[in-house]
Amino acid sequence: MKWWQKTIAYELYPKSFLDTKGQGTGTIRGIIEKLDYLSSLGIGAVWLTPVCRSPMVDNGYDIADYTDIDPSYGTMEDMDELFAKAKEKGIRIVIDLVFNHSSDQNPWFLASKQDRTNPYSDWYIWRDAKEDGSAPTNWRGIFGGSAWTWCEERGQYYLHTFAAQQPDLNWANPDVRRALYKAANFWVERGAGGFRVDAITYIRKPDVFADGTPDGEDGMVSVHDMTANTPGILDYLHEFKREVCDGHDIFTVAEANGVSADELKYWVGKDGAFDMLFEFSHINLEFKGVETWCRPDPWTLKDLKRALVNSQEATKDNGWYPVFFENHDKPRCIDHFFPHTEYPDRAAKLMGMLLYTLRGTPFLYQGQELGYRNVKWPSIDLYNDISSYGQYDFARREGLSEEKALECVHVFSRDSARTPMQWDDSPYAGFTSGTPWLPVHDDYQTQNAAAEDADPDSVLNWYRRLAEIRRNTEVLTEGDFQELMAESETVFAYQRTSGNGKAVILTNFSSEPVKYDVSLREGMQVRLTNVPGHEEGILQPLEAVLYADE
Ligand code: GLC
Repeated sequence: MKWWQKTIAYELYPKSFLDTKGQGTGTIRGIIEKLDYLSSLGIGAVWLTPVCRSPMVDNGYDIADYTDIDPSYGTMEDMDELFAKAKEKGIRIVIDLVFNHSSDQNPWFLASKQDRTNPYSDWYIWRDAKEDGSAPTNWRGIFGGSAWTWCEERGQYYLHTFAAQQPDLNWANPDVRRALYKAANFWVERGAGGFRVDAITYIRKPDVFADGTPDGEDGMVSVHDMTANTPGILDYLHEFKREVCDGHDIFTVAEANGVSADELKYWVGKDGAFDMLFEFSHINLEFKGVETWCRPDPWTLKDLKRALVNSQEATKDNGWYPVFFENHDKPRCIDHFFPHTEYPDRAAKLMGMLLYTLRGTPFLYQGQELGYRNVKWPSIDLYNDISSYGQYDFARREGLSEEKALECVHVFSRDSARTPMQWDDSPYAGFTSGTPWLPVHDDYQTQNAAAEDADPDSVLNWYRRLAEIRRNTEVLTEGDFQELMAESETVFAYQRTSGNGKAVILTNFSSEPVKYDVSLREGMQVRLTNVPGHEEGILQPLEAVLYADE
């Protein structure tokens, strides 16, 4: 097995981690200061969301220079120090490659937009207006509004899958691909342990750009439906692998929604372009199609089980699964999976149990180890996330009242995952001595790292214990996965088996006690449970139990 299959990864959102300059936003030095904390979580890799130079329209996912550090985060010297000091603690730093688009302030785009003949003119996706002057197609960007913006200088529209300030790069141009591989290799040479590859399913555009059937009152269709996973994309991805990854002891995990199980083998594994692929079937249960916040569908535990089991099966012989329940784009998992629970701590621990015992590499997200919850701010104006604005506007246009549209934001806004880390109960939770860029969650006086560190039953210490058990129980990393109690509508259960042992994991998603057959645990001991005084044969509400024979 490779090192990254055995490790635990931590996704770190630098802007909200720790501010050492009193500026209200996090710094690389802040990460260096907290390496002991990170190390106490038993992790071996930290995926940093982008720290490159950026106007921060989308918090760094709009890159103006792929090989420079944004001054708000610090300097390249700080970054080198982080690589080195993290390595001393056995932690590799993973870089986020935002290669579908750049910032509109990137010198490549500033040159490209000048005219149609300059050396960069073909680095982005430019098209003429329709005869009536309107956008070339009726595609809606993922953050809302048209996916096309008019450029006066050039007299053409450019395509942006995301915000207008994030123009899509033209991967069909070999010069663009070369420049991007060069940037990635810059990070390999500096010591990156791997890459998370952003929004990669959009890099290949269709040969013909045509209007799609509108899916909303705005007369537009989501750009996702028109451009995601266009045939031919794999040629680019394999080229990326050859030019950047081959021959290095690094891993890649691609953000690639909508890759089907049949196609998976071309994407991950021996013949695939990546090592792992983040797919969202288990996290987007309420969106049967495009992720439109105001149109969620109901879902049941059976849906969640099906999604998770499918992913386990799909990566059984091919590739490797990155397990995750939170990231910087998603709500907090307690609120997502247990929206009305009376037992938030149990919920946090149950999700931790799944995260660390399903087959694959766990990706823990900043704050998840402290049991963070969603924020519910009383007005859309208090939100910062660019997609919250787009989704709110869309909901209003679809006829939702202000109140209902805001409720969608409460449930799905990306800001819930982005509020500052809560280190202690001092003002602004010890995150900054200035004014934080996003308000600190008002539960910080109890939900903070210092308080949880001191409480043996805290969510934080649960995650530490889980990490230790995982490290010392080979079957949890190496074992095969088989679902148990598949028909249950309240319990998600499975076993992990290998030549080296066996483990059984039982989790009760309901708020009622549930019985289970004790023979499931034959020959094994309870290693961990989130409810004191575990009673054999019964799972208490939201109880999670791990049995193992090692
Ligand atoms: C990915 C990122 C998200 C970003 C978007 C555009 O989905 O995870 O945060 O806004 O790509 O780069």
